[in-house]
Amino acid sequence: MLVHRLIERKRDGGRLDAGEWRTLVMQYTAGAVTDYQMSAFLMACFLRGLDRTETSALTDAMLNSGSRFDLASLGVPRVDKHSIGGVGDKVSIVLAPLVASLGIAVPMVSGRGLGHTGGTLDKLESIPGMRTNLSLAEARAQIEDLGCALLGQTDEIAPADRKLYALRDATSTVESIPLIASSIMSKKLAEDLTGLVIDIKRGSGAFLTSFEQEVALANEMIHLGEGHGCPVVAVVTAMDRPLGRACGHALEVEEAITALKGEGPADLMEVTLALGAEMLVLARVASDASAARTDLNAALSSGKALARFRKVVERQGGDPAVLDDTSRLPQAPARETYAARRAGFVSRVEPRAIGRGIIELGGGRKVMSDEIDAAVGFVIHVKPGDRVEAGQPLAVIHARDDAGIEAGRSVLDAAITIADEAEPPLKLVSHRISRNGVETL
Ligand code: URA
Repeated sequence: MLVHRLIERKRDGGRLDAGEWRTLVMQYTAGAVTDYQMSAFLMACFLRGLDRTETSALTDAMLNSGSRFDLASLGVPRVDKHSIGGVGDKVSIVLAPLVASLGIAVPMVSGRGLGHTGGTLDKLESIPGMRTNLSLAEARAQIEDLGCALLGQTDEIAPADRKLYALRDATSTVESIPLIASSIMSKKLAEDLTGLVIDIKRGSGAFLTSFEQEVALANEMIHLGEGHGCPVVAVVTAMDRPLGRACGHALEVEEAITALKGEGPADLMEVTLALGAEMLVLARVASDASAARTDLNAALSSGKALARFRKVVERQGGDPAVLDDTSRLPQAPARETYAARRAGFVSRVEPRAIGRGIIELGGGRKVMSDEIDAAVGFVIHVKPGDRVEAGQPLAVIHARDDAGIEAGRSVLDAAITIADEAEPPLKLVSHRISRNGVETL
């Protein structure tokens, strides 16, 4: 195979056949195709696009570059949830043990922070001792015992995607619908699922910027899932403001624990229940969304979901006492309340500015090798549309030192806007996309 011929063909708007995709991905993973060749090829893909057959061939090639879970013998439904990335989005930490406590296997392979969004793995690792680098064998045994494992993408799961994704991140080729769909689905299909729920984020803090693109991405993933016997349902949720109140790794774990006790902020509970209900219906353990919600609420109020999380944390080496005493999580030494500069209506709480602000405070990576400070972040008590008075506390800044507090103040000055009036924010859970089309909720 002559790589430069494939680059040329893609550059000129042509297509590759399944065998060419397989060979290209295999040779790149083995190091026989260089990063500079692959970078040029990815940019050609980004600009020219891939048709459905090519997207499917690329997904298969990445999926087959590694091993897969073999969970069918467990004899229970296997359903996961994947989010396209947001700020303050700690839903996975609540949902995985909650759904597992209702008899569904959740083999959740999550990622690290990306751009302005935080990653579930980084959040979980703020629990002292918690390991997420589980081997497939370890994760399988844990799923058999506890119904759920929270792990990262190791070399065993779609290693080609891992390598390609790092290259895309460095070459500005992430925001391509076929490349995103194939990247996510290569990992999700390795989980041997019987169903997948995708949380498509909408609004200024989302990766994709138009509703048409979001629907196209959902349809691409639905199509890829169908080809592998894995039904996919997408739910569109608002990301024009952060989800919940806490933004920052340890702060979000604390809020997730509150949510597992059934006492999380209303928006976090609503998104968790909407996605969880889809998971239960896909798994066929609930006949409809309303029955599913009843089961989910019962698992929260009885303590069953929290008990499952305790077991998962303990099994993965984490300190289970954080569930009873969240002060055992990393704590920021400097804190300051941020107050409204004027009276009016909150018209904007900009998620991108908050996400970037967490990175500024040390809570994210500027390069992959950076250590992250799990303690820093913001707890924001207001939502767009709220009426506030001058001097009213709006948020608390959690920082490492005085310089961090000062940076945090500037972040909130830019992120929170108070005006004489406010446009209504996007509907929190607005659409459901399935093989039957787009439904407005
Ligand atoms: N998440 C992924 O895993 N892959 C992408 O391409 C984008 C988001």
